[in-house]
Amino acid sequence: MSKILVTGGLGYIGSHTVVALQEAGFKVIIVDNLSNSSVKVLEGIVAITGETPAFENFDLRDKQNTTAFFKRHKDITGVIHFAASKAVGESVENPLLYYENNINTLIYLLQELSKKESSNIIFSSSCTVYGQADVMPITEEAPIKLAESPYGNTKQIGEAILKDTCKANQNFNAIALRYFNPIGAHRSAKIGELPIGVPQNLVPYITQTGAGEREQLSVFGDNYPTTDGTCVRDYIHVVDIANAHVIALQRLLNKKHKSNFEVFNLGTGTGSTVLEVIKSFERVSNQNLNYKIVDRREGDVISAFADTKKANTVLGWKAKSSLDDAMQSAWKWQQTIKSKL
Ligand code: NAD
Ligand code: UD1
Repeated sequence: MSKILVTGGLGYIGSHTVVALQEAGFKVIIVDNLSNSSVKVLEGIVAITGETPAFENFDLRDKQNTTAFFKRHKDITGVIHFAASKAVGESVENPLLYYENNINTLIYLLQELSKKESSNIIFSSSCTVYGQADVMPITEEAPIKLAESPYGNTKQIGEAILKDTCKANQNFNAIALRYFNPIGAHRSAKIGELPIGVPQNLVPYITQTGAGEREQLSVFGDNYPTTDGTCVRDYIHVVDIANAHVIALQRLLNKKHKSNFEVFNLGTGTGSTVLEVIKSFERVSNQNLNYKIVDRREGDVISAFADTKKANTVLGWKAKSSLDDAMQSAWKWQQTIKSKL
C-alpha cells in the first residue's frame, strides 16, 4: 500500500483529501503544526473512514525535524503539500511570515525529496496567480499577472521553484493544482472549514450570518460590469477538490504524466455572482439572509472562473457538485459546529 505524506492534513482542504485518500486505499501520514487547525479534526476523519491516519505534530519550518521525519519514513511514495499560511490581508501586514512559511517549507520538503530515487509531489496553488485575467474562462495558458499580495506571490514563487526543480531533475514529478474558490464540507458534516475569528471569505461569512453569529453580510460592491453588478467567482465543492488530488496523485504514481511538471485548474467552469451565492444559501436554508451592499473591497478582481478542459480531458477529473450541493453541505456543517458550542 502506497504511503502518502499529507502536510497540513488537518486543515480545511487537507482533511477532506485525507478522507478521499483513505477511501481510495492509500495509507496516510499527516504532518501539521496545528497553527490553523485542531487535533480534533482527526476524530472526524476516523468517524468517516473508520481508519486513523498517522499524525505527527511539528512545524515544517524546522529543517532538522523535517530531515529526521523523512529518515524515519523512507517508504513515503508521494507528498501532497497543503501546509501554508493563507490569509491574504495578514500576508500584506506580515509578508516575512508568509515568505518564511510558504517558501521555506516547500524548499525543505523538496530538499528531502531530492534525496530519493524518484519523488512525487502535489502542490496547492491558487487561481490568484492569474490576477484579473483578460479572457474568461481562464485556461492554464493565461499569463501569470503581477501578484496582488505576498500570499499570491508565494504561490507564484512556489510554482516556479517546482518547475525549476523538475527541470533540473527528471526523477522529480510535480503537479500544481490551481484551486478556484473551495467551499462546503463533507456531507457527513464531521469535517469542514474552521475559520478563526471573523471570516474573510464569502461562504463562511454567509453561513455564520444565517446562524445568527454575525449580524449582517456586507456585499462588496454592486457596480461591477457583471450580470447583477456583483463579482463573479468559481465556487467549487471541497470534496471535488479533494478527489482531484487523489486522481493527480495516481497519475504521478502510475507514471501517466506527460511532463514532469504539470499544472491544472480546479474549478467547476461556471461563474456565480455574490448575489447568486446568497440566493443559493437562501434556497438551501429556507431563510432570507440579512445583507447590505457596501463599497468595493480593495484588491478584488471583477471575475474569475476556470476553463476546466485540461483537468477534464488530461486529468480525467470533473467537478460533480452544484453550487446548491456545496451550500447545503456548508450550511449543515455550520449548524453542526453551532450545536457543538
Ligand atoms: P488551512 O489553513 O485550513 O490548512 C493548512 C494547514 O497547514 C493547517 O492545518 C495548518 O495548521 C497547517 N500548517 C500551516 N503551516 C504549517 C507548518 N509550517 N508546518 C506544519 N503545518 C502547517 O488551509 P486550506 O484552506 O486547507 O488550504 C490548504 C492549501 O491550499 C494552502 O496551501 C492554501 O494556500 C491553498 N489554497 C487554499 C484556498 C482556499 O480558499 N482555502 C484557495 C487556493 C489555495
Ligand atoms: C480569496 C483570496 C484569494 C484566494 C481565494 C480562494 C482575497 C483578497 N483573495 O479570493 O487569494 O485564492 O480566496 O478561495 O482574500 N465578498 C463579499 N462579502 C464578504 C466576503 C466576500 O461580498 O464578506 C465577495 C468578494 O468581494 C468576492 C467574493 O465574495 O467577490 C468571494 O470572496 P472571497 O471568498 O474572499 O474569495 P476571493 O476574493 O475570490
